[in-house]
Amino acid sequence: ESTLGAAAAQSGRYFGAAIASGRLNDSVYTTIANREFNSVTAENEMKIDATEPQRGQFNFSAADRIYNWAVQNGKEVRGHTLAWHSQQPDWMRNLSGGALRQAMIDHINGVMAHYRGKIVQWDVVNEAFEDGNSGARRDSNLQRTGNDWIEVAFHTARAADPSAKLCYNDYNVENWNWAKTQAMYNMVRDFKQRGVPIDCVGFQSHFNSGSPYNSNFRTTLQNFAALGVDVAITELDIQGASPTTYANVVNDCLAVSRCLGITVWGVRDTDSWRSEQTPLLFDGNGNKKSAYTSVLNALNGG
Ligand code: G3I
Repeated sequence: ESTLGAAAAQSGRYFGAAIASGRLNDSVYTTIANREFNSVTAENEMKIDATEPQRGQFNFSAADRIYNWAVQNGKEVRGHTLAWHSQQPDWMRNLSGGALRQAMIDHINGVMAHYRGKIVQWDVVNEAFEDGNSGARRDSNLQRTGNDWIEVAFHTARAADPSAKLCYNDYNVENWNWAKTQAMYNMVRDFKQRGVPIDCVGFQSHFNSGSPYNSNFRTTLQNFAALGVDVAITELDIQGASPTTYANVVNDCLAVSRCLGITVWGVRDTDSWRSEQTPLLFDGNGNKKSAYTSVLNALNGG
């Protein structure tokens, strides 16, 4: 196959990209995005500050621009993200305790109702663990509402849209030896044992010199899959875009039957949140980089 999406589809997987609504009038961008990818994640537009800028007043204008573009072009959509310590609107950042807990529940219900039956996977909770060696939860206003905030979010999400796969999503959890990975693993194992409705784990996979790719990523994916959840690579970018590392990541996903697919976090290097690291598959002019060819070859079976 000659595009990333078609190549991934050969094994029943998708190959997606984060899409920014502000780029949808750039025809170089949309031509690449439409040709190469068969799954879409909104880079910012489905986040809390975008979708509920005032409490109880939902705004899906930017999110729907992306959703409609995706569906009109035959792509599936990953939802990102419902409960997160970051990109909260001011009204939410100022809440705590029971009021914040209720606001989180109301937010999940409001957004999931709008997209009910339309989103393949939702990142229900994003980035709840601390970096470093503690294995602890990240301190946040949501965490301070009580340790059960994550499972409450998942129960709420399941009731709001039973057809969506419900994911927990995080970064620096790709290396099996890291405490953060183990903490996430213990949470998912506990959730599965107690019947908390979690279907998938998203590994963001922002690889750089501080948190480089490690070949034990495949072990990580396999160990999570063995708990009875699907896994996905949700925000892939690699500092310097090493073709070898990109191929390794693709092959790790292909090696795990429960790996649903791969999403890269942007289209061209100039669209990236880390543009100075030139971490993506297309250069600023929209030309395919060597990492692109490497990914395509891996998806095509070597
Ligand atoms: O929209 C405003 C614009 O009006 C304003 O003029 C401009 C000035 O700063 O800011 C614009 O908002 C920015 C937004 O991206 C849209 O471009 C925010 O400042 C900026 O903080 C925001 O960054 C996003 C970041 O999440 C915020 O946490 C990145 O685009 C986005 O790629 C990044 O994505 C996250 C994932 O959601 C979760 N995992 C990590 C990943 C990378 O940080």
